Amino acid sequence: MRKKVTVVGAGNVGASCALRIADQELADVVLVDVIEGVPQGKGLDLLQSGPIQGYDVTLAGANDYEPTANSDIVVITAGFPRKPGMSRDDLLMANYEVVKTATEQVAKYSPNSIIIVVTNPLDAMAQTALWVSKFSKNRVIGMAGVLDSARFRTFLAQALKVSVENVTAVVMGGHGDTMVPLVRLSNVSGIPISDLLDQGTIDKIVERTRNGGAEIVKYLKTGSAFYAPSAAVVEMVASILKDKKKVLPCAAYLEGEYGINGVFVGVPVKLGARGVEQIYEMKLTAEEQALLKKSAAAVQELIDVLKKKQ
Ligand code: 2OP
Repeated sequence: MRKKVTVVGAGNVGASCALRIADQELADVVLVDVIEGVPQGKGLDLLQSGPIQGYDVTLAGANDYEPTANSDIVVITAGFPRKPGMSRDDLLMANYEVVKTATEQVAKYSPNSIIIVVTNPLDAMAQTALWVSKFSKNRVIGMAGVLDSARFRTFLAQALKVSVENVTAVVMGGHGDTMVPLVRLSNVSGIPISDLLDQGTIDKIVERTRNGGAEIVKYLKTGSAFYAPSAAVVEMVASILKDKKKVLPCAAYLEGEYGINGVFVGVPVKLGARGVEQIYEMKLTAEEQALLKKSAAAVQELIDVLKKKQ
């Protein structure tokens, strides 16, 4: 039987996710959005690209969740985007309502699905989806680490004038200004980056990675990045649907791992048919551990605000 993916939010991120899923023939796609006509129009447009692109999947749009029934994966991208000068956290309350409403419908129509959350502030929105859906923690995942490490890899490859394919980079922590690009574990074909770049250059790249989303918001002015975020989502979707068991940095619900409890934070996980099949706990230096804890504390602050609302 064909796989089915619902993408909630037919904006730039959502529509790009739908296009990439179709291009790779991973699944039939249903685009859902509250704006009348937009998901239907984009769905039809994407469907008509099939004969040219050579993909053979069904793409449809809707304003309600009935057509999404029994999805294998639901990607939640809906929400208000950042404007220049706004942090991801500024979106907290507005997007809480959006993600809550979407998740209620997802839990009703696709009770066995795996939810991937993209809406910002991402870690807190993943936690919202976990609370509202009451799904087991392996079935609610936040997309962030794949995107953040792709940005880190891009900047490292640019500085070193080498292929991005040879650059491995690890970014942990929340998807915000406190994210933790792990310099020690990043390398070019096994060569530590500290052997290749001076500390000043590495520091600048780490800072640029942390501000990678804001840099694009500043250029676009009316929205945030979508090409790289959708590519990151679809790498996760493919790993789950094909049960590839890729080890990717994702926001996962921690219960004691890394000394962090009851909060979503970006860590390396194994993504397979059951969603998060394993959380990898690696040895961190005292300094790295402190940065990760600080990042988790920043997510916890948002969670505390949401808890008061519940
Ligand atoms: C970003 O970092 C949208 O949060 C997303 O670009």
